[in-house]
Amino acid sequence: MYSGKQRWKYLRAAVLQKTTDIFVREGTTPALTSSGTFESFGLLAVRALPIAGEEQWFEYSCSLVPDFRLTIRHCPKTISLEQLTGFNNTGNICVWSSEEVLAYHCLRHKDCFSERRVCELGAGMTGLAGLSVAAAANASKVVLTDGNELSVANIAVNAAANASMFGSTSVTTSCVVWDSLNEFPEYKKMFDYILCADCLFFRDCHDSLLHTMLTFLKDEGEIIIFTPKRNGSCWDFVEKAKRQFSVRVFERYDEQLWTIHVERQRSSATYNPDIHYPLKIILKKIQMQEAV
Ligand SMILES: C[S@@+](CC[C@H](N)C(=O)[O-])C[C@H]1O[C@@H](n2cnc3c(N)ncnc32)[C@H](O)[C@@H]1O
Repeated sequence: MYSGKQRWKYLRAAVLQKTTDIFVREGTTPALTSSGTFESFGLLAVRALPIAGEEQWFEYSCSLVPDFRLTIRHCPKTISLEQLTGFNNTGNICVWSSEEVLAYHCLRHKDCFSERRVCELGAGMTGLAGLSVAAAANASKVVLTDGNELSVANIAVNAAANASMFGSTSVTTSCVVWDSLNEFPEYKKMFDYILCADCLFFRDCHDSLLHTMLTFLKDEGEIIIFTPKRNGSCWDFVEKAKRQFSVRVFERYDEQLWTIHVERQRSSATYNPDIHYPLKIILKKIQMQEAV
């Protein structure tokens, strides 16, 4: 949920219909939302498709995987008062830079996901990373989730629009609100990989997110997180995660991205690594010592 100050800032922006501008300043990848004010890392090529009424459709492709194409609908740029005051709405504003990098990472390492079960948590309005796995990696199952019903409804539209790309991969969507008390019987220990982009900013959700991750993941599975540092919130998460997971954090994990990052720091007035440059965090369950 938003803090009171944030909530009123977004409320004012929505009333004035300046929502995109507000979020641009706070670290989005508007190139992916077509506003053009801040460049994304450009790891995926994004082409706006002819607009059907109010809808915004984009074609995503990536030079790493020549046949890879996704047709993706974004949510409308303005949001209603009801949505603003309801469940966390940050996933419906734009595709955040961490989601772009996570999708790119999954395409680069797509062979890891072959015949594996994959879940994306907090997938926002597009589920871009999970859909990239579904379209390119020959996974056995991909479950795309978010806690915001509007996001999940939009992801379902995107999954349907790209169904012809999925081959034998089963792709489903689900509204999953992270919950420290829920044992999620339907997903318990189901997944080889859990994907998560830019979901660590909400410190009061760290415990419930970790519980959900621990519950969903197979004992030998792996969680792949991309997240900006965002005012130290990622380090607070890492400290908590160490109680149940082995944690590895990488800052320079992809030379192409690192080069872009260094160049942006030098040349872009709007680039702020604290909110734009994602760290890669890998979690694995700490295995209990087998009884002798
Ligand atoms: C900053 S957005 C990131 C969305 C997407 N991964 C991206 O990077 O574009 C954070 C996402 O976490 C989801 N979220 C926040 N709190 C949640 C919770 N308690 N349970 C489930 N999802 C939650 C929001 O709905 C939102 O889609």
